[in-house]
Amino acid sequence: MDKKYLIKTYGCQMNVHESEKLAGMLQSLGYTETDIDKDADVIVFNTCCIRDGAEQKIYAHIGALKSLKKTNPNLVIAICGCMTQVKNRPETIKKKFPFVNIIFGTHNINKFKNYLIEFNSNHQYICDIWDEAKGIDEHIDMYRTSGKNAWVNISYGCNNFCTYCIVPYVRGRERSRDFDDIIKECKELIADGYKYITLLGQNVNSYGNDINDDNITFANLLRTVATLEGDFVVKFMTSHPKDLNSDVIDVIASEPKLAKVIHLPIQSGSNKVLKDMNRNYTREKYLAKIEEIRAKIPNCYISTDIIVGFPGETDEDFLDTYNIVNQIRYDGVFAFMYSKRDGTIAAAMDNQIDIKIKRERVNKLLQLSKDITKQLNQESIGKQYRIIVDSFDDAKNEYIGYTDSGKTIIVKKIDELTINNFYNVTITEYTKNKLYGVIRR
Ligand code: SAH
Ligand code: SF4
Ligand code: F3S
Repeated sequence: MDKKYLIKTYGCQMNVHESEKLAGMLQSLGYTETDIDKDADVIVFNTCCIRDGAEQKIYAHIGALKSLKKTNPNLVIAICGCMTQVKNRPETIKKKFPFVNIIFGTHNINKFKNYLIEFNSNHQYICDIWDEAKGIDEHIDMYRTSGKNAWVNISYGCNNFCTYCIVPYVRGRERSRDFDDIIKECKELIADGYKYITLLGQNVNSYGNDINDDNITFANLLRTVATLEGDFVVKFMTSHPKDLNSDVIDVIASEPKLAKVIHLPIQSGSNKVLKDMNRNYTREKYLAKIEEIRAKIPNCYISTDIIVGFPGETDEDFLDTYNIVNQIRYDGVFAFMYSKRDGTIAAAMDNQIDIKIKRERVNKLLQLSKDITKQLNQESIGKQYRIIVDSFDDAKNEYIGYTDSGKTIIVKKIDELTINNFYNVTITEYTKNKLYGVIRR
């Protein structure tokens, strides 16, 4: 019998990649993929709890399955991911949605296959949440769904305990994956034809800190991956500004296969707020890193994350953030309204900020970021980028390509280009939010 699965993924790239592991387990049991709820025999929610908004959305989506479960009582509904690791959340989920069949956590995701087999045989509700990981499982069925890009875990968990953040509580302490295992996986992916390898960790820069060998560092890992043979580009996320060191910047600058792309979350431009967030850097130190990056890697694409309305954030604090964004002129800004997460240090702080003020601040930042992006696009004429050619538009007789940072560049067909090959382009035109380029030979 043809059984189908559907996985709903929320949150960050870590979850996107973990859903590829869930898909791999389902495929190994003979299930095939569908994107239609009512066709599915199994629906898995891979959840996120970084902000309350994420959790509310997930609740609404699970709730929407109630009627489907009535018409198809054999539908299996499983919930996993970060939300299930929050204290008492599994109980809340089961109470709100008694029709949920399987709940498991972030540390035992590789057990999903066993849970599903067990449930299919005895139809008994399963809830299994572990407090911590039991080592790193290298024997994983994986069904990759990210096109030309392959995600590669280099570390799990986080030790930073930024005071607003729930990740260390739901993902556990930082564990670095074995260096040779990472390289082996990268080699296989390159041989399989993947064009981008994206190394994943909550704080990639602290890779290896838990391994007793001075040579096991993020800079060495990057260099080793970027010097493997083949036609591919290496990316990574996410960097913590306190740990991004000159070695790493130098490797990015010198290795051609490394994308000139850095996501460096600043969170706030106010030293007082940064301190209260436990970020362990000042605005001055952060600016010095940006200067070093720009001096060593001209044209580097730099993006950031910002939280507005952290407890106690005054108008002046926000102005510090606004001004630093204006000064740095980021290529991309992800701005979020602070969301109180129970159990974190900031949740217990006084001076929680009114939602109206948060909304005003986030909108100001997003407008600023939009204006900067427009200016940067106009200024990019004459600049050079590497692109991958993704497709050809017959009607318009033009190729559609993407830079390493994911920006769309259109190349009018003058010569024949090969889909999935890298080319260097010079930007010639910017019209109606579109960038045009010509191939540089
Ligand atoms: N490990 C990464 C990603 C963390 S989560 C890092 O340190 O950069 C992604 C982003 O969500 C964070 O950078 C932060 O800007 C935002 N975030 C985390 N907790 C939040 C909270 N409680 N409220 C609002 N935004 C939050
Ligand atoms: Fe959260 Fe900070 Fe860790 Fe990022 S570095 S996951 S923001 S605690
Ligand atoms: Fe969300 Fe978990 Fe990622 S809380 S942002 S899915 S690590």
